[in-house]
Amino acid sequence: MNQTQQNNLKPLRSKPDLSGIEALIRLMLKKHRTPFMLIRRPVLEKQYYRFKKCLPEVTPYYAIKANPYPGIIKTFVKLGASFDVASANEMKQVLRLGATPSKIIFANTIKSNEDIEFARRRRVRLMTFDNEPELYKIAKFYPKARVLVRIKVANQGSVVELSLKFGADADQAYFMLRKAKALGLAPVGVSFHVGSQSTNVENYLQALEITSNIFKESKANGLPLKIVDLGGGFPIQHFDNEIGINFERMAYQIRKQMKAMFDRSVKFIAEPGRFLAGPSGILVTQVIGRTFRNNKNYYYLNDGIYADFSGMVFDHCKYEFKTFRRGPRFLSALAGPTCDSFDTLSMNEEIPELYVGDVVYVKNIGAYSCASAVPNFNGFSPAKIIMV
Ligand SMILES: Cc1ncc(COP(=O)(O)O)c(C=O)c1O
Repeated sequence: MNQTQQNNLKPLRSKPDLSGIEALIRLMLKKHRTPFMLIRRPVLEKQYYRFKKCLPEVTPYYAIKANPYPGIIKTFVKLGASFDVASANEMKQVLRLGATPSKIIFANTIKSNEDIEFARRRRVRLMTFDNEPELYKIAKFYPKARVLVRIKVANQGSVVELSLKFGADADQAYFMLRKAKALGLAPVGVSFHVGSQSTNVENYLQALEITSNIFKESKANGLPLKIVDLGGGFPIQHFDNEIGINFERMAYQIRKQMKAMFDRSVKFIAEPGRFLAGPSGILVTQVIGRTFRNNKNYYYLNDGIYADFSGMVFDHCKYEFKTFRRGPRFLSALAGPTCDSFDTLSMNEEIPELYVGDVVYVKNIGAYSCASAVPNFNGFSPAKIIMV
């Protein structure tokens, strides 16, 4: 008996959708063609307030690289958030959407001369660096810049490693800050990034301890510092039943460490991207073709690796694929629509049997997804973004 026959014996039962997400998707399907990405404004707000509640001393600078969709930026502007930008283009975008220059950090340690000059023209003074040649560039193109030295810290257990390409050795930090001062810049503090989707709180605790030592060394040498930038990395749940991710508990420990290591005059900032944008996103796709090969059903979706699932490559992300169908589940393959075998999303998904037109959706996909989608590979457009 094949799978279709087996399935046909058991009528598909639709369980009530407790989360209301399926109801929302069904409603949106009446108005929009798939693929589409729903960005839920209330979830953006919830994540922002959750961050502020758990880390009240830390000013969040939303890292727009996670998702630069204008509606998201506008939402955070309204909430009074600050922003982390990686380039002059990102800076232009947040300024155009209402952010003030004093609420922006240019947090890419490698910047082109033109981008540094742009920051000067738009008075975005705060920026990071992690090497001496960069300091000379900043001193030349933005002599009044306020600089944070980014140090290399442990990224143990983080899904995306961010200390391979960036970060000065901690024992060089004070000397670099002194050099910044000698060049006429304003050295104001230290930044780090523990790697993205960092479930290991020890990374933060250790990084804070190393940073506090740099603060002490600098103060003892007549160069008092003011700002600690905790970077991003704050993790989110991608699967419904995922264990080991507890932002509230992590934040509690981070806060305790901040209090133990620094005096009250120190200002804390952070650059959360995934934490603020990720949970808001729901990607809705449809099956456009199916076949039985290699002993399993293959379902071809109208979105794939080159578009909104690009995070599976660039962000090393894994997603939970959901459908509206209930009933027995079979080991199946899911693939994107392009003429490329690489465009395979999963070879072993346990899902009910699907038919052409069926919906496959993914939650918690608001960060590092559409942001890195290729515009039109094979002529397939990425998902339309819809704010709800
Ligand atoms: C400099 C910098 N800040 C912040 C972020 C955001 O990190 P996350 O999305 O893990 O919070 C990144 C991510 O790559 C980054 O490179």
